[in-house]
Amino acid sequence: MSNPAPAPVAVALDAPDLETAARWAGLVTPHVSTVKIGLELYLRYGPEVVASIRGASGVRVFLDLKLHDIPATVAGAARAVARLRPDLLTVHAIGGPDAIRAAVQAAPGTTVAAVTILTSQSETDLARAGMAGGVHDTVMRLAGLAVAAGARGLVCSPHEVAAVRAEVGPDITLITPGVRPAGADNHDQARVATPEEALRAGADLLVIGRPITGAPDPGAAAAAIAASLRRMALAVLSRGNPRALRSRCGSGRITGRASGRRDLGPRPVPASRPGCP
Ligand code: C5P
Repeated sequence: MSNPAPAPVAVALDAPDLETAARWAGLVTPHVSTVKIGLELYLRYGPEVVASIRGASGVRVFLDLKLHDIPATVAGAARAVARLRPDLLTVHAIGGPDAIRAAVQAAPGTTVAAVTILTSQSETDLARAGMAGGVHDTVMRLAGLAVAAGARGLVCSPHEVAAVRAEVGPDITLITPGVRPAGADNHDQARVATPEEALRAGADLLVIGRPITGAPDPGAAAAAIAASLRRMALAVLSRGNPRALRSRCGSGRITGRASGRRDLGPRPVPASRPGCP
C-alpha cells in the first residue's frame, strides 16, 4: 500500500540547537507536509540551516522570518533568502502594500504569506498602539490589503480564519498557529482550536509546535495528528459534503462564500495541496 499523503501541518522547529531541529524534522517528515524554521534557528545558524533541515527529504520549508521594514530593505532581504528556495516566507502585513509587493517580486518562487495580527497581541495592545477597530476588523483590513498587494498566503488565528477565507476566496493559503489537539496543553497560546476545527474553518496549513516537538516521540505525535485529519477528510467525503474541504483543497470554483470578494487581482491556478483526497 502506498504511503498516505502528508498532513497539511507545518511543524514549528523551535529547537535550542540544530541537531535537535534536524532530528525533529527527520521524525515528522513522513507524516507532515512542512517544517517551519523561525527567527531563533535562522539567526543562530544562518542560511545553511535551511539546507540542513531540508536534507534529502524534500519536505516543504516555511521560513518564518516575519520581515518588517521599508520596501527596499524587505526586497533585499527577500532576495537574499529566495536563493534558499523556501516554499513559504512571512512578512508583516502592517509593513504596508509596497513592502509586501517588494517581497513578492523579490522571491518569485516562494509563497509570500503576510502575518496579520500576532496571536499574542490583544485588543488592549492594539488600542494602546492607536489601532482603531479591534483585532477582528484589523485582521480583515490587513488580509485584504496584503492579498491586493500580491501575497498568496496569510497567517491568522483559527478564530479569524473563516472570516478571512470568506473575504479572500479559496486560492489564498491560510496558515493558522494556535492549534492544539483536544486535551493538549495550551502553553502560552491564548486562542486555540483543534486541528480539525481549524481545517473545517478554512485553514490550509496548521502550524503546530510543542504538542509535537514536546512529545516523548515527535514522530508518533505527528503521525497521530495526521491520522486524525485523514479520518476527518474521509468522514466529510463519506457524508457527501466535500465542500467542507473545498477551500483547503483549492477547487478554484468561485462559491457563495467567496462571491463577495473584492478585486484582488487574477486568481492563480491552485496548486495541489498535501493531505487533500
Ligand atoms: O504550537 P506552538 O505554540 O508551539 O507553536 C508556536 C509557533 O507558532 C512558534 O514558532 C511561533 O512563532 C508560531 N506563531 C505563533 N503565533 C503567531 C505566529 C506564529 O505562535 N501568530
